[in-house]
Amino acid sequence: MEIKSVILAAGKGTRMKSNTPKVLHKIMGKTLLGYVLDNVKNISEESFVIVGHHAEDVSKFVKNNYVNAKTVLQTPQLGTGHAVSMVCPYLSDFDGLVLILCGDTPLITEETLKKFVEYHISCGSDLTVMSTIFEDPTNYGRIVREKDNTLKCIVEEKDATAEEKLITEVNAGIYCLNWKKISAAFSQLTSNNAQGEYYLTDIIAWGKSQNLCVNAFILENNEEIYGINSRQNLATATKIMNERKLNSLMDNGVTIVDPSSTWISEDSEIGADTIIYPSTYIEGKNKIGSNCQIGPCAHLRGDVEIADNCKIGNFVEVKKSKISNNTNAGHLSYIGDSEVGSHVNIGAGTITANYNPLNKIKSKTVLGDNVKIGSNTVLVAPVQVEEGANVGAGSVITKNIPKWALAITRAPLRTIEDWVKKYI
Ligand code: UD1
Ligand code: CA
Repeated sequence: MEIKSVILAAGKGTRMKSNTPKVLHKIMGKTLLGYVLDNVKNISEESFVIVGHHAEDVSKFVKNNYVNAKTVLQTPQLGTGHAVSMVCPYLSDFDGLVLILCGDTPLITEETLKKFVEYHISCGSDLTVMSTIFEDPTNYGRIVREKDNTLKCIVEEKDATAEEKLITEVNAGIYCLNWKKISAAFSQLTSNNAQGEYYLTDIIAWGKSQNLCVNAFILENNEEIYGINSRQNLATATKIMNERKLNSLMDNGVTIVDPSSTWISEDSEIGADTIIYPSTYIEGKNKIGSNCQIGPCAHLRGDVEIADNCKIGNFVEVKKSKISNNTNAGHLSYIGDSEVGSHVNIGAGTITANYNPLNKIKSKTVLGDNVKIGSNTVLVAPVQVEEGANVGAGSVITKNIPKWALAITRAPLRTIEDWVKKYI
């Protein structure tokens, strides 16, 4: 069955106290919205992102990064039900499933969403809501059930009676609906509630009133629906995401010497028998091969590809670069916008000067196979050091160096005998 998704991202995110829209805040280099869009991209053919506050920024992000996603403007923002109703004109002929998610819930996994949709289909459901149990359910919508345990409705914290507030089963804010059957609900929602909003949650009671098949999918790992509303939430989610990633890497043969000081983004692939030393920070999208040694204190900033048997040592920063096998950059280097061959040695303190702050242009450095760069070299990009060439320590390389040559720009050493004695 065809599946489309709707991601709610029009809200203000007041508690972030930020000029950046909430869904564009990042966890290890990737936006919250990016996580949600990536999680649905293998499940639904197309996503609609509902934008409102900072709509321009959010739309630009979606347009630049996701070909299968469209943004739909919701203005003013009259509630979650109103938000979803914005897609009605786009789906008037659609006869499939619509998956609804929030843009500020990055910890949900593709695996869970797949199970959720499968559950919806296997139950023959018209509408399924994801729920979970929270010891402290404060602020979440509560799942109210009938005496026979079937769903009755969802009641928001602000509308709940004292008795309803005791319910610990909460609405995760993720829904799957048979669009043809449920879409009529959106023209019938009312804002007759404590917040004066059109609540998406009211589609549950609406579905029941229409004698449709309405179910809840209870998620065991409630961590997955952890929502980001504040900077503290963001830090907690980052920690959870990181732990998840480190555990999965270790399960697949990567040594993480000190998980408590290591940060690795979800989109970093690392091969078996690679060792990640303490205080290493790896953000964005990266691919690291097998048998590498990374860190301690290495910083990979994304778009980094490192092949097998490489060593990226302490205080080495790498960004948007491709490094072939058996290459070492052991100490205190910056490698940016580079292509580095195999069996290359990059001496301590070597820097690629890749950025011209006057014209803001970033340029590329290319080092061929078997190149040896002496310590404290500045490679002023755009520049190429061809296969096998050597660069003497302390050089500033501003021109391309041909194969197997030695390049050196070091000023000749002068030794002035007894010079110091004049001053003592
Ligand atoms: C919502 C649910 C609540 C659930 C919780 C789970 C409703 C009425 N309540 O509450 O039952 O437990 O999520 O996290 O749905 N948004 C729009 N347009 C709007 C209003 C909101 O796009 O007009 C977006 C927000 O940006 C956000 C999402 O919808 O991404 C949820 O809105 P929010 O106000 O955070 O709802 P909650 O109070 O958390
Ligand atoms: Ca919320």
